[in-house]
Amino acid sequence: MTILRSVVAGVGSALPRERVSNDALVARGVDTSDEWIRQRTGIGGRYVAAPDETTVTLATAAARQALERAGIGADAVDVVVLGTTTPDDTFPAAATQVQAALGMRRGFAFDVQAVCSGFVYALAMADNFLRLGQAKTALVIGAETFTRLLDWEDRTTCVLFGDGAGALVLRAEPGTGTAADRGVLTTHLHSDGRHRDALYVDGGPSTTGTVGHVRMKGQEVFRHAVNRLAEVVDEALAAAGVSAAEIDWLVPHQANRRIIDAMGRKLGLPPEKVVVTVERHANTSAASIPLALAEAAADGRIRPGHLVLIEAMGGGFTWGSSLIRW
Ligand code: UT7
Repeated sequence: MTILRSVVAGVGSALPRERVSNDALVARGVDTSDEWIRQRTGIGGRYVAAPDETTVTLATAAARQALERAGIGADAVDVVVLGTTTPDDTFPAAATQVQAALGMRRGFAFDVQAVCSGFVYALAMADNFLRLGQAKTALVIGAETFTRLLDWEDRTTCVLFGDGAGALVLRAEPGTGTAADRGVLTTHLHSDGRHRDALYVDGGPSTTGTVGHVRMKGQEVFRHAVNRLAEVVDEALAAAGVSAAEIDWLVPHQANRRIIDAMGRKLGLPPEKVVVTVERHANTSAASIPLALAEAAADGRIRPGHLVLIEAMGGGFTWGSSLIRW
């Protein structure tokens, strides 16, 4: 049976100019240490956006690179789906601003708000448009200036996050409906809104009228992440009819090295099959997976035909996974 698949045609990324090491945070007065941050999270540094670097500018730069690598112009794009928690403006959507910046005069664009799961959600939505024939080419972006949400007095959160953007061009191509097809094989999304208080921002247009700061019960999030991610990864493998041994690359959301290692162990994957960027990027929320995909594709680790598993969990709680044949 012929079906439509969303095949990856190009991937791009963008990081702010300034890298801030753990020691630099200590020098700026945060009551922490390089040793604590590395031991508990695996984070060695993060990129922090300057005032002229915004979610839209980073997303646009990543999108341009992805389009260039796909060998297509912005006018070939039918839909832009952008996962972000940190849009430039309350509205319009960052995606429509990226659309304008790219010079796109057609198609449609919108944001998806699922915090750290934002890229998986955006990918699932774009994949649905393509498989239904409602669009032929999609730009899927994860972009954040998450450091704008940080309370630099709160050491339990301010050391964890960074800024950046990654983008994927997807093109609808015929497939056979088997796991041998190139493209997105399966996507799985979940949320459980009862956990709002475990990870949230204490502000917003409808309440305080301010942007607010990230608040997190770290251990609670950690516990849920390990369990929910294990479930949603099994769900993806079962739906695609593949075994963990067939995975070429695990590209997880980059929140904590200990969560990443636990997932690698659960799947029986050797560490060299797990793409890890958390040491350099820290947690960039919706941007972390496309940033890691872009890096591993650019340096030749991820190659056409490879089976790539992505998974993420974030505020809400939201969580999800996808298997992509590159
Ligand atoms: O992307 C969205 C999803 N987010 C996540 O997946 C994050 C999940 N959670 C985590 O990654 C971890 O829970 C954290 C990294 C946030 C915290 O690690 P932990 O091992 O759970 O530490 P903890 O919260 O139990 O804190 C241990 C100690 C505490 O001191 P006491 O009470 O034992 O004296 C904290 O006050 O470490 C202290 N602490 C710090 N010390 C130095 C907390 N933050 C810091 C810090 N520097 N930055």
